[in-house]
Amino acid sequence: MSGGIELQFDLISYTLIALLVGLIVVPLILSKDPDIHPYALLRQSSVAPVRNPKESAVYRSLQTPVGYPLVSGLQLPSVQKYSSRSGDIRDIWKLAIEKGKGKIIVAKGKDVEKHDINTLTKQIHALGTHLKNAGATKVAVHLPNCIENLVATFACAYYGFVLVILPFEPTGTPSISELLKQTSADILITQGGQLPLEEFKGSGLKEIVLVVEEASQHLGWSGPIGEAKCGQFVDITKNEVEPIADIDIDLDAPAVVIFSPEVNGKIETVEFSHRNIIAGVAALAVTLPKNERYMPEDVFLPVDTLADLYTRIHLYTALSSGTTVALNSTGGKHADVELTCRVIAPTIIVVSPESLLEMHRATKSTMKEFLHGIVHYFQTKTLADGRIPQGNFLTNFGGCPRPNVGGKLRLVFVVEAAGDKTSQAITSLDLSDARVFFKSKVVYGLKHHKVAGPLAQQNVYDYRVQAEALPSEKNPRKCAHFGPPTPGVEIKLRDMGEFTATDAEGPRGEVMISGAPVSGGQQALGFAGKWEKECVLSYA
Ligand SMILES: *[C@@H]1O[C@H](CO)[C@@H](O)[C@H](O)[C@H]1NC(C)=O
Repeated sequence: MSGGIELQFDLISYTLIALLVGLIVVPLILSKDPDIHPYALLRQSSVAPVRNPKESAVYRSLQTPVGYPLVSGLQLPSVQKYSSRSGDIRDIWKLAIEKGKGKIIVAKGKDVEKHDINTLTKQIHALGTHLKNAGATKVAVHLPNCIENLVATFACAYYGFVLVILPFEPTGTPSISELLKQTSADILITQGGQLPLEEFKGSGLKEIVLVVEEASQHLGWSGPIGEAKCGQFVDITKNEVEPIADIDIDLDAPAVVIFSPEVNGKIETVEFSHRNIIAGVAALAVTLPKNERYMPEDVFLPVDTLADLYTRIHLYTALSSGTTVALNSTGGKHADVELTCRVIAPTIIVVSPESLLEMHRATKSTMKEFLHGIVHYFQTKTLADGRIPQGNFLTNFGGCPRPNVGGKLRLVFVVEAAGDKTSQAITSLDLSDARVFFKSKVVYGLKHHKVAGPLAQQNVYDYRVQAEALPSEKNPRKCAHFGPPTPGVEIKLRDMGEFTATDAEGPRGEVMISGAPVSGGQQALGFAGKWEKECVLSYA
């Protein structure tokens, strides 16, 4: 009996010793340089040498220092010699055809389907032609992350319709039909059975296009709703049409309309031009260092909803970089990261803070064993040394629970939504854990509904855990810093109540932003920020 216990003890202690050797000695032998020199993280923005009274100096990305032009377009070859053009939303699709691997991957239940990009181009023109004949000017979409959403998006771009992106997550009030009335859209594209279509009577819609599951396409979906005709997406897009030649587009006219989060019980619309969107895409593409950027070998999966403009800008960046896009229609704010990714095995994902924290909670709760704690400690230390812990055979032997996201993940994007009270804060400790759990870089940033793409984004190699950003009693959930401004914008902080540019701890004030990705070119964003000593932005 006692022999049995001793034997057990020996087994455990040998395992422990083996593990400790594995964790301490093996990494020492294999030790590599950190991903970035720590000095490079000490000053992350270019700061203007002068400032106006009651304002901080202007801060910019180191890639577009003060005095240089900000990133404002895709720099595509133009018909005139020695000049380039910034491009419009159509160019995103054209680049996807030119640089990409010719397919879009779509999850159908537990399997994946591959859609040929040329077939989708035909569908874009079939839908565009149909809507043009129906007299469309503004097309509202209420769709999950699906192929029809992509087709509708680019049909709008090619045929000159304004794309109205309705929130997809159920929010209660105001209802989708009330939001739609705010926009004077004349076409609605939605899933059959999703919305109470009767509510759209008298909303001025000319036509409702229904995306219907194959199994129920034979059902009578085509009766008119009030004055609005009703048609099925499949019937419309199977027409063979002659694609139109590129029409002239006013790059500064509204092209995309989104809805703000609820502020004081009100939801407002925000308009973006082709120029705004393209600048957001261009800036996001170059924010990352060269060998971390979106590439044709990558597979990008939006885990968050494409109704979110930030997620959409990632989608556009992926497409225009030739990256293969994968869609799972269950994508959304509360999507399960593991389930959504497992089969597709993406290399780059965008997740909501809610999904990330849920994954964090689920993984942590299975880490009860002592060994898991030790492994986690050492892997966190690897991060502190400036590298992403990939694990070795011994840490894997420790059987640490990790979300199964397909094993190829290299970049995870997650942002805080400024001006959205419901946004879930993520601390730098959460980010550090997420890097360990995903075995991937995790990039945090800040978005706002008046800016296309992030306004600030952490350096992809910034794995530091900020002591001052740890949750405290006074401030139980504090966001990590948001990194420097992206290369498309410049940011300064204007005095706002107690927050001033001359604050002893660093300049604080209302975030003022300008640049081509900003709706209207410049905006005062209504919330207070602070410049940290490394010239990164955080909440005041
Ligand atoms: C799509 O996501 C759902 C739930 O998030 C999951 O159950 C399903 O397996 C996924 N499909 C694929 C092909 O990844």
